Amino acid sequence: MSKFFSEAASVEAVNARMGPSANPRLKRVMSSLITHLHAFIKDVHLTQSEWELAIEFLTQTGKICSNERQEFILLSDTLGVSMLVDAINNRRPSGATENTVLGPFHVKGAPEREMGVRISFDGKGESCLFEGRVTDLEGNGISGAKIDVWSDNAEGFYDVQQPDIQPKWNNRGVFTTGANGRYAFIGIKPVSYPIPHDGPVGKMLEMLERHPYRPAHMHFIVSAPNFQKLVTHTFVGDDTYMTSDAVFGVKETLVAPYERLQNATTLWRSTFDFVLTQLNEG
Ligand code: BEZ
Ligand code: FE
Repeated sequence: MSKFFSEAASVEAVNARMGPSANPRLKRVMSSLITHLHAFIKDVHLTQSEWELAIEFLTQTGKICSNERQEFILLSDTLGVSMLVDAINNRRPSGATENTVLGPFHVKGAPEREMGVRISFDGKGESCLFEGRVTDLEGNGISGAKIDVWSDNAEGFYDVQQPDIQPKWNNRGVFTTGANGRYAFIGIKPVSYPIPHDGPVGKMLEMLERHPYRPAHMHFIVSAPNFQKLVTHTFVGDDTYMTSDAVFGVKETLVAPYERLQNATTLWRSTFDFVLTQLNEG
């Protein structure tokens, strides 16, 4: 091989520079990245101005990031990368509840609440009783499981997006299952909303003629000792955006029923059981 860089041997030129004692996994990841990146550039015959645009796009993506805003994760989400990483790292046996994207609006340390209570405090939206069980693959209830839930409000915003408007911890809470693995709480029927799209990722979506909406969903993190942590949503199945989620988070098995209740103060009921896999299963 020539000592110098050439178009034909570009990959070899870069990968040959890695030292013999560099971390083997890092070498494997970086050499594959270089291989695919160079192949992509050759495939599209990237122009100088397109390269400059890409650098500017990544610069703007970095500049808009803050403690409250993670534009790189939004980029990963909208390119399907977050869901792909999630899929290959959370293969589960059939019957187990599937994972989906965590998203940027989870907040650690939400209040622990009594089973059955209301989590929605802004007086907006259609009330909904969420209930069901947390079980293992055989259907045995798991008591003492933690269920961390969060959703947007009826106007499509999470509390952290509107700290001066919504009550703190609005539409959030952590519940602990009792005997039989049962859980219940009263939230609102979630609504579809756009992911933050006032930055470079929003601009990218617009240029690709893609909308920024997610179909209505309730977020859940379900965890219990000796079981794999489940990060998931349940979806409102008749939502307009079910087949075009901006972040590709929809899975058919995660559609939950929404049943209109008659003669009750709560308007809807959504029943969903979460099936966890043991840490050494799947
Ligand atoms: C969410 O569902 O909260 C979400 C997921 C990915 C990107 C933006 C929002
Ligand atoms: Fe969400």
